[in-house]
Amino acid sequence: MLLNKRIIIGICGGIASYKAVDLVSKLQQAGALVDVILTEHAEDFVRPLTFSTMSHRPVYSDLWEASGRAAETHIALAEEAELLAIVPATANTIAKLAYGIADNMLTAVALATKAPLVLAPAMYRDMYTHPATQANLALLRERGACIIEPEVGRLASGAVGPGRLPTTEVLQGAISKALGRNGDLAHRLVVVTAGGTHEPIDPVRYVGNRSSGKMGYAIATEARDRGADVILISGPVALEAPYGVELRTVETALQMRDAVQSAITGADVLVMSAAVADFRPDTPAAQKLKKGNGGGEAQGFDAHGGLTLHLVRNPDILGELAGIPGSSETSHGQITDKGERSKRLVRVGFAAETNDIVTNAQSKLQAKHLDLLVANDVGRRDSGFGVETNKVIIFHATGQIEDLPVMPKTGVAATIWDRIVPLLSTT
Ligand SMILES: Cc1cc2nc3c(=O)[nH]c(=O)nc-3n(C[C@H](O)[C@H](O)[C@H](O)COP(=O)(O)O)c2cc1C
Repeated sequence: MLLNKRIIIGICGGIASYKAVDLVSKLQQAGALVDVILTEHAEDFVRPLTFSTMSHRPVYSDLWEASGRAAETHIALAEEAELLAIVPATANTIAKLAYGIADNMLTAVALATKAPLVLAPAMYRDMYTHPATQANLALLRERGACIIEPEVGRLASGAVGPGRLPTTEVLQGAISKALGRNGDLAHRLVVVTAGGTHEPIDPVRYVGNRSSGKMGYAIATEARDRGADVILISGPVALEAPYGVELRTVETALQMRDAVQSAITGADVLVMSAAVADFRPDTPAAQKLKKGNGGGEAQGFDAHGGLTLHLVRNPDILGELAGIPGSSETSHGQITDKGERSKRLVRVGFAAETNDIVTNAQSKLQAKHLDLLVANDVGRRDSGFGVETNKVIIFHATGQIEDLPVMPKTGVAATIWDRIVPLLSTT
């Protein structure tokens, strides 16, 4: 996504400017061609050498430098840029951008470029909430700029409030999303489920599984970076929500079913990568079960203090949607109980298998009327739960079977979207 992208990072004279070093480094490592422009006051906080060392490219600052290099290049930079991100953006520079002032290298390039503009305001709380700053940001947002909301927290002054620069991951996410806004999933709504579910035994214990959510989060992130609006329905996981994705959290399979059913209205694609529990304890105890026969037979304890759980079947979320036409049907969709569905829903399922992968996957694909089924062998050390890589076989409704090599989960996510895009309805 970031490979060979021409990105300008503008850096203003704010206390958070040192944090932009990490961003430039991460973008460079991801393959982007990063040109850095410092304002004069940014140089009071950080040195150009730090950035040129990280970006492996020249750094620009003075539009009026004696060599004339910056003066010659500022229009070329503006024309070649695929994105301009200003990190941190000071109140001062935000005001200049709102009024079209171009009195330094950064603001001149900002005025000259047609590339999308991403701003990460960072400043003292009362500067940020000042009506002038808010009005300037509103004007820039109206003109199409992407404004990354600052975090609320402890600021350099000691005050607490909005104004902190978000993490590098958030900044990089916003840049990736802005770069991909016209991608092959632009104007599409996609729903992705991720993680496992927790089925309560009592208020403190649950039946769960080892899904980390990494595969589903990678699928949601990749869809965002191709321009989609993404709803990510996630079970309990230890992952940060990807920037620019609508996160809906659930705990149980029943909650996951409700969340999926309400999210798919108007959606183009549903990717069910969550590991939803097939079974749940039929009646969770209202109070914590005590060890040693404490709950008596009514709670499932036997005479030796052993506990027996009675598990009932959870709904089959994808199976219940089998009636909705997918990409292979000729119908143009069906009406939901809300009367809103008018397009076909491409449905992609996942199957975590330890044995008989091909047979199990093929029967699941057919029984649930899926467009694609991604089977992963969770018995391998380099595939499935918790690890960064996955080894998958993609089964198509057409009968085609693709046995893919071990790949990073981000690569698997990209391949899955490459297969989904041709299936999207054009109606
Ligand atoms: C120590 C110090 C810290 C500052 N931190 C910020 C800041 O975090 N955000 C901000 O908007 N301005 C901050 N300022 C004020 C800006 O440096 C000042 O408005 C300057 O004119 C910005 O220039 P520039 O927008 O061209 O970089 C700070 C000033 C000083 C002296």
